[in-house]
Amino acid sequence: MTLLVTGSAGFVGTCVVRQLIAETDEPVASVDALTYAGNPLSFGPAAQSPRHHFEHADIRDEARMRAIFKHYQPRAILHLAAETHVDRSIHAPAEFVSTNIVGTLTLLQVAQDYWRNLPEPRRNAFRFQHISTDEVFGSLAPEAPAFEETTAYAPTSPYAASKAGSDHLVLAWQRTYGLPTLMTHCSNNYGPYHFPEKLIPLMILNAVDGKPLPVYGDGQHVRDWLFVEDHARALRLVLEHGTPGETYNVGGAAERRNIDVVNMLCSVLDELQPSGAPHARLITYVKDRPGHDRRYAINFGKLERELGWRPRESFETGLRKTVRWYLANPGWVASVRSGGYRNWLDKNYGSREAE
Ligand code: NAD
Ligand code: DAU
Repeated sequence: MTLLVTGSAGFVGTCVVRQLIAETDEPVASVDALTYAGNPLSFGPAAQSPRHHFEHADIRDEARMRAIFKHYQPRAILHLAAETHVDRSIHAPAEFVSTNIVGTLTLLQVAQDYWRNLPEPRRNAFRFQHISTDEVFGSLAPEAPAFEETTAYAPTSPYAASKAGSDHLVLAWQRTYGLPTLMTHCSNNYGPYHFPEKLIPLMILNAVDGKPLPVYGDGQHVRDWLFVEDHARALRLVLEHGTPGETYNVGGAAERRNIDVVNMLCSVLDELQPSGAPHARLITYVKDRPGHDRRYAINFGKLERELGWRPRESFETGLRKTVRWYLANPGWVASVRSGGYRNWLDKNYGSREAE
C-alpha cells in the first residue's frame, strides 16, 4: 500500500508527509514540481526515510503521472499541488489556471484510468482526495454565518477561481465517472516551514529584521486561522473515514482581524526577542490588495459530528510555537531567502546520478 501525495514539498504537503512518515508505516510517494514554493528542506526527518519516495514531477506531465501511478500502485491520492498565493495570482494568473485547473484535469484522467483497471477490492478502496480552500466561497459580510459545505461558490481572485474550477472538475469526475473522490475546504493555515510570502511568516521575518510590516488596506479583513498540523490531521482523517463523494470543511474556530494578528505577533516577539522598542512601531498600512475578500469563516460542524475532528491547537499557542520555530531555525530561513533550498536537487541527486 502506498499513498500518493502531490504538492508534497509545499507548506501543507511537507506537513502531511512528515506526519505520515512519523505516525504510520505506509510508504509515501511524493510528487512535486519544485516551483519557488516547493522546498524539500521542509521534509525534515522524513527526507531520510526509506518509506518516502520523492518524485520531481509536474502534475501536468501526463506521461510522467501515468508512470508514477503504474510504478507505485497507490491506494489513494492526496492532491495538494497548486499555485497558492493570491497576490501572485493577481499579477500572473495564467500559471494558476494551468496548474490548478489543467493539472487537476490531467491527474483526474490518469487516476480514473488507473482506478477503473484495479481489481475489485482495491477499486472500492481507492480514493482521490482533492485539497481545496475556503476562498472558493468568496467574501463574507461581518455578521454572515460561516461557510458551510453547501455554501454557493463565489470566488473573487484568480487563485480562488482556479481552485473553484478544479473543484468542479473533481465533482464532475465523481458524478459522471463514479471516481471515489473526497474534497476538503480549509481556512488559512499557519505554522512552521511556511513560505514567507504569506502574512504570518512575512510579518515575523520582517519584524525580526526591523523592516516595515505591510498591512493591506485598513487591516480589518478577517481570516480564520488553523495550525497546519491540525489541517494535516483532518486530511488524514477524511481520507480514512470520509464518505466518497462528500465534501468537508476544515477550520480553526479562530477568526481574527489582520491587524490583531500582526499586533499579537509583535507582542510575542517583544517578549521572545526584545529589540529595545515595540515591534508594533513597524506596522505600516499599504495600498489594499485588489478584490480583497473582507472575511472568511468556516463552519466545520460536519467534520466534527461525523468524524470527530476538532483543532487541537489554539491560535494563541499555535502562533507562539510558530514564532519560536522561526527564531530557532535561522538556517531554514536563510536558505529560503537566498534561494539556496533550490539547489537541493543537485545536492541530493547529483552524486547519485553519477554512480
Ligand atoms: P504551497 O504553495 O506552499 O505548496 C504548493 C506545492 O505545489 C509546492 O511545493 C509547489 O512546488 C507544488 N506545485 C505547484 N505547481 C505544481 C505542478 N504543476 N506540479 C507539481 N507540483 C506543483 O501551498 P500550500 O499552502 O502547501 O497549499 C497546498 C494545498 O492546500 C493547495 O492546493 C491549497 O490550495 C490548499 N490550501 C492551502 C491553505 C493554506 O492556508 N496554506 C488553506 C486551504 C487550502
Ligand atoms: O483561506 C485559505 C487561503 O489562505 C489559502 O487557500 C491560500 O493558499 C493562502 O495563501 C491563504 O490566502 P490569503 O490570501 O488569505 O493569505 P495571505 O497570507 O496572502 O493573506 C492573509 C491576509 O493578510 C489577507 O487578508 C491579506 C493580508 N496581507 C497579506 C500579506 C502577504 C497583508 O495585509 N499584508 C501582506 O503583506
